[in-house]
Formats: sequence, C-alpha cells, structure tokens
Amino acid sequence: MGRPELYLDAAATTPPLPAVIAVMQQLQQTAWANPSSLHGAGLAAAEALERSRWRMAERFAVSPDQLIVTSGATESVHLALLGSAASLPPGRVVISAVEHPAVIAAAHQLEALGWSVAEWPVDSQGVVRLDQLDRLLSAPTQLVSLIAAQGEVGALQPVIEIAQACRERGIVIHSDATQLVPQGCFPFAQLRVDLLTLSAHKFRGPRGVGLLIRAPGVELSPLQGGGGQEHGLRSGTEPVALVSGMAEALIALPRFDPVSQPVPPGSSTQIRRQRDQLLERLLELPQLQLCGPSPDQRLPNHISLLAKTIGGQPLPGRDLVRRLAAAGLACSSGSACSSGRSADSAVLTAIGIPGPERQSGLRLTLGPWLSDQDLDVVPGRFVSVLEALS
Ligand SMILES: Cc1ncc(COP(=O)(O)O)c(C=O)c1O
Repeated sequence: MGRPELYLDAAATTPPLPAVIAVMQQLQQTAWANPSSLHGAGLAAAEALERSRWRMAERFAVSPDQLIVTSGATESVHLALLGSAASLPPGRVVISAVEHPAVIAAAHQLEALGWSVAEWPVDSQGVVRLDQLDRLLSAPTQLVSLIAAQGEVGALQPVIEIAQACRERGIVIHSDATQLVPQGCFPFAQLRVDLLTLSAHKFRGPRGVGLLIRAPGVELSPLQGGGGQEHGLRSGTEPVALVSGMAEALIALPRFDPVSQPVPPGSSTQIRRQRDQLLERLLELPQLQLCGPSPDQRLPNHISLLAKTIGGQPLPGRDLVRRLAAAGLACSSGSACSSGRSADSAVLTAIGIPGPERQSGLRLTLGPWLSDQDLDVVPGRFVSVLEALS
C-alpha cells in the first residue's frame, strides 16, 4: 500500500469512537444474555438495554417507548413506510426526487398494495419545490417521506414546513434523518414529523443498528412477527451491545435547535471552517465545479463537485474515486451506499445536471478525525490525479 489514506467519506460511514468500542466490549462481557430472560443474567442485559434507551430518548426529548431499535436506516425506512401504510386505506405516497434508494424501494413496495407513488420535484439545489406543496399534499396523498439532509449533494430540506402542512391535512410524514443526525441531536417534536429514521454508523456508532422514532399516537404495524420485542414492532432478541454503542455515540453529538438553525452547526465549528477552506482551494482548480447548494445552505461537512478535463470533458466520477484512493484520498461518487454500482446519478438527474456530467459527481465529507495538516495535502493530490487525466 502507498501512503496512509485520508478518510473524507463521512457520509458513507464513520469510524467508531473509542468510547463506543469500549462500552460495547464491556457489555459483550457483562450484558450478553437475552434481555427477555427472567434470571439475573437476563435482568442485567435488560437493565443495560433500558439504560441505553433512556440515554437516547433524552437526546431527542422523547419518551423511551417512542424509540424502536432496528438494524439501521434501511430497516427503519421500511418499517416507517410499510408499517404506517398498513393502517391506512391505499392512497398516494409522496417521496422527494432525492431520496435514498431504501425509501424508493419501500415506496414501490406499496404499489403492490394498491398505492400510487408520486415524486416531489426539487430545484437545482436539490431542495423540494414548495410551489408543489398544495398539489402534492392534496387527496389522495396519505403518506409522505422526505429526506432531512441529502447525502449526495448535501441539500437540507424544509422538513418543519412540510411536516406542519402534512399535520394540518392529516397526512402521515416520515423523515429520513440519517445524514442530519450526525450533525447533532435535537428535540424530535420540533421537526413536527410522525416518524424519524436514523442510523448509528453515520455518527461514529456501530454498523447494523439504528432507530425509528415515533410520535405519540402514530399507528404502526410490524413487518415481522416473533417474540414481540420493541413493543411488538420489531421482533428479535435485542442487540444490547450495539444499542449501548449507539447511545454512547449519540451522547457525543452536539445539540442544535432545528427551528432557529435550519442549517445545523455541525459536529464542531472547526469542521465548517475546514470544509470552507478546502472547498475554496479545490474550486481554484479549473477542472472542478461546485454542485448543489452553496456552502452556507448545505450540510456543514459536505462538498459535492463535478469534475471535467481542462478541455471541458466530464470525467467519470467512479474512475476519479479509484485514482484518488490510489493517491491516498478516500471519497465517493454517487450516493453514500450505492457508490460503486450505477454510474448515472439519480440525484444529479433530479437537480437538472445534463447527460454525461451526471457521471462526474464527486463527494467529500469531513469528520473530526481530519486535522488541518491532513486537509492541507488534499488539493495537491487532486492536482496530480486531475493532471494525469487531462
Ligand atoms: C439518507 C440515507 N438513508 C438511508 C441510508 C441507509 O442506511 P443504513 O446503511 O443504515 O441502512 C443511508 C446510507 O447511506 C443514507 O445516507
């Protein structure tokens, strides 16, 4: 291997915090039993699980019984959409044009049950068009799913405004906050949504565990039967150590107020400064151009770019990602989880990027593990990779 890789792919996943690893290791030893068992070992596991649940509930100012532990955002999204649709007469589900493939898949599963799916169009910044609100929230819309922060271009959506409009019309609304929560915790009720998805590995917790947060009174049916854990909504023996790791990672996040701070301040003021400085230097390169919202309107750790040759030919993002990796920079093209499969980006299509340029997207997402010295070398490595391709 060449030089050590700098990890600029926080939106794909994040390295677990040492405190997360420590608490999980400890609980694997002390709370390994089945939390449903009535003996001492089981009670110790149940107590550890409930302690984690209380800690997580406090971060979102909800009651612990509003939290449903899942295997991550993909499962939470499916439980939110399919589980809430089960108690509604078939109607229309509206999803934004920039959702993660998990939401698109869940919405399309509803079609088999007699639902129709409508897409909420976005503007050139990737933000849903509010001039479409009355049209899309009219009958027969019963269910809406809106990504809170878009992973590929960093766009932040007007969730509170749309959730309020849904409430007034009796429409159930779910928000996929997988990319928002890593920027901080907030009182759940302030977002006004009925259901909220998050995933621990995006905020330095373990992979394979997440939450669905439910507002009081929102009806939900389980997707699977069994032992009746998680209030009957998600059967299966609870992964106590993973949940404790998720709680530990949530505790480490800052808090923010989504009403007064629609752009979250980020995990530290340093990240925003680092992002701005890096972006400025990258945009000095004639081959790179910013794609999506302006820096002050996007996730504070997020950069999305389009890459081309000096002659103006779009450069395939996936090829660039491989070459940057060989030069010691870990970043991504396309969306966080589907990177590496399809070259054409549905999100870049939705924001109106033309033909071949849709394949030239590049995403850099920063985390507190990167120092100023680390980031200093990034533009130079870009220069050598881009020069080799020009
Ligand atoms: C917005 C969004 N939703 C859902 C997911 C899926 O998350 P998980 O890997 O926890 O299932 C991701 C992962 O990239 C994401 O960014």
